[in-house]
This record gives sequence, structure tokens and C-alpha cells, in this order.
Amino acid sequence: MKNIIQPGHPLIKTLVTRLRNLETDSYTFRKTLSELARLLLYEALKDEKTEEINIKLWSGSGNFPYIKGERYVFIPVLRAGLPMLDGVLEAVPEASAGFLAIKRDEKTLKSTVYYDRVPPLKGKTAFILDPMVATGGSLDHAISVVKGKKPDRIFTLNVIGAPDGVRRVCENHPDITMVIAQVDEKLDNNGYILPGLGDAGDRAFNT
Ligand code: PRP
Ligand code: URA
Repeated sequence: MKNIIQPGHPLIKTLVTRLRNLETDSYTFRKTLSELARLLLYEALKDEKTEEINIKLWSGSGNFPYIKGERYVFIPVLRAGLPMLDGVLEAVPEASAGFLAIKRDEKTLKSTVYYDRVPPLKGKTAFILDPMVATGGSLDHAISVVKGKKPDRIFTLNVIGAPDGVRRVCENHPDITMVIAQVDEKLDNNGYILPGLGDAGDRAFNT
């Protein structure tokens, strides 16, 4: 799979371990997801082209490199992806946001989109934010919805995946780039990632 980036940075690993720790409270859990999203965005954009913009300086004016953030649209998948939005918008405040809510059925593990507020994406680069890739069904679904809005490029920023789910998404969508912090061992019989971090939405919002 060529379309996957797994950064392996010690700070990223440390933040993922903080998420796994059951003693991490939900406020810290959300803050950590936000910080991780920003670090994953750095990885996604490491070869991004900049353009020269002219800015006022204390000593006159000059041309300096800048990322064209207006063309980025960040799309958190509710609920668990929502805390990731702050971190990426802090890094690129010129970007806009769209929202997608997806819930997977606890028994069948099939996902349903129940809210789509993603704008048209022509000429845009879309970043789908969802911490967990278990069976991969929800992310597969999210990518299909986003592709329907015709963006130029799609990145997904994810925190923990299970091997089969990650493979499913990357093989079904070879034209996207997945940036994921860690790939764990497997799924349990209920479709939860092991060792994982439990239910990310519940951990983030104290439910
Ligand atoms: C979680 C997570 C992913 C999905 C991953 O959402 O945020 O969207 O599960 O599972 P999958 O790869 O097997 O589809 P969930 O459906 O639990 O909704 P929530 O965020 O509202 O809790
Ligand atoms: N969704 C989660 O939040 N956690 C898992 O382990 C699997 C799906």
C-alpha cells in the first residue's frame, strides 16, 4: 500500500499512549486528539508547495512562502473526529470546515451517514478527520461521500487502525492518502480495536 503514511515520531507515539491510558480524563483526551491531528497534518503537508506572498514587514515589505490554506476543507467525522478539528484549524486558520456524522451499528458493524454538511469541494483539498479505523467501513463510507463532492485531493488523518480496516480503505481508495499514527494488532469479536483505546466517542464526550 503506497498511499499510507505512518509517521512514527516519538511525540506522536507518546500522545497515542496518553489516549490509550484509561486514566486520561475526557478533557485531556479531546486536547490530545486535537494536538495529534495537528501533528498528523504536518506529516500530510510535508511536501506541500508554498506560494510567495507579499507581506508588510517592520523593515518594508517582502515576498515569503505561505501555504494556500483557503483551498483546504477539514471534515471531522462525528462524534469522535470532532476534537481533531480545533488542532488543524489552529494550524491553518484560512481553511474551512464541513461536517459528516456517521454511526456504525453495534451488532452488524455497518455504518450509516446521518448528517452531511460538507460543502461542494471542487478545487479543494479535503482532510477527513476520524481517530479510529476498525473495520474501515465508516472511513470507506466517508471517503465515498467526500468523493461525490469532487475535491482535487483527499487525505485522511487517523490515530489508530486495525490492519484489515486500514487495508480495506487503502485498497478501495488508492487515490487518497491516509496519515495514521499507529496500526494495532486486530479487532475483538465486537469490532473493537485491540489494544486500541476503547470507544473514542464515549471517551471524548464522557458517555
Ligand atoms: C467510531 C469511529 C469511527 C468508527 C470506526 O465511530 O469514530 O467512525 O467507529 O469503526 P469502523 O471502522 O468499524 O467503521 P462510532 O460509529 O462509534 O460513532 P461515535 O463516534 O459517534 O461514537
Ligand atoms: N470505534 C471506536 O471508537 N473504537 C474502536 O475500537 C472501534 C471502533
